[in-house]
Amino acid sequence: MTAVTVRVPAKVNVQLAVGGRRPDGFHDLANVFLAVGLFDRVTATAADELTITGEGRDIAAVPLDGSNLAAKAAVALAKLHGIEPRVRLHIEKDIPVAGGMAGGSADAAGALLACDTLWGLGSSREELLSLCAELGSDVPFSLVGGAALGVGRGELLTPLEVGGTFPWVFVAATGGLSTPAVYRECDRLRREEGAGDTIADIPAPVADPALLAALRGGSPAALAAVLTNDLQPAALSLRPDLAATLAAGTAAGALAALVSGSGPTCAFLAEDTDAATRIAVALGPAARVATAPAPGAVVLR
Ligand code: C5P
Repeated sequence: MTAVTVRVPAKVNVQLAVGGRRPDGFHDLANVFLAVGLFDRVTATAADELTITGEGRDIAAVPLDGSNLAAKAAVALAKLHGIEPRVRLHIEKDIPVAGGMAGGSADAAGALLACDTLWGLGSSREELLSLCAELGSDVPFSLVGGAALGVGRGELLTPLEVGGTFPWVFVAATGGLSTPAVYRECDRLRREEGAGDTIADIPAPVADPALLAALRGGSPAALAAVLTNDLQPAALSLRPDLAATLAAGTAAGALAALVSGSGPTCAFLAEDTDAATRIAVALGPAARVATAPAPGAVVLR
């Protein structure tokens, strides 16, 4: 085999409950992930040494060097198996960059699966998931897709049942938001409110039973009523312009509007695909329609 292409989905968080800052700087989460049908593709081709190239939306904002999470994934997998990472990685980007939709995590999960297949390593699911967790909190979910509850820093996953299809509209904002900066702002706002920001101050986050029931039930209206994102106030504090985007989606008929993860992408839940198309038209050319749940990383060829 000389080349393997893997397709990987974006995610939206339908619940993102953020606990206090832990001694290691991370935050305990109750993070309900939903994979959505916006995809990157990662192609791994046999090569003499590790190189990385890319094309597609916002590719200029993606570092095409060893700092790319996909390159780190190839290096980590090769190291685990005691081989050299002899591969050219090519990323076709369609997921917004630094948008709160786990685009970098998707590329890392895609690179892992593509390299594992190219090199014929046959790593177990557990080995791949543990490499994913080392690469980043959202990377394990990019591999598995569907819907899942992530606890710990988001990497400890339990798959969730989903009883229907949810139509979404996504509006990527220009200029990404740094995830660490959004968590820092969340901490700062909590201190400012006098709540404190450590695990001693903030109750441990828990999955909302009403939200899990709404996912199982499959009704967009029921899910819309229970969507929450504890990072949204921090994202809006850093990017006050997002409030107007959220309001425009609601005015255009969205059942709910929220910031996706750490933002700045805004996510709108629609009643059905026709409504999603109408909302996307009203929100302009930056708006994209995508349905959920989508499968995780899959080998295309
Ligand atoms: O795990 P990942 O590399 O995606 O995390 C990026 C940053 O986001 C972390 O360095 C940390 O600042 C923040 N983070 C956090 N708590 C989490 C996940 C991420 O504070 N549960």
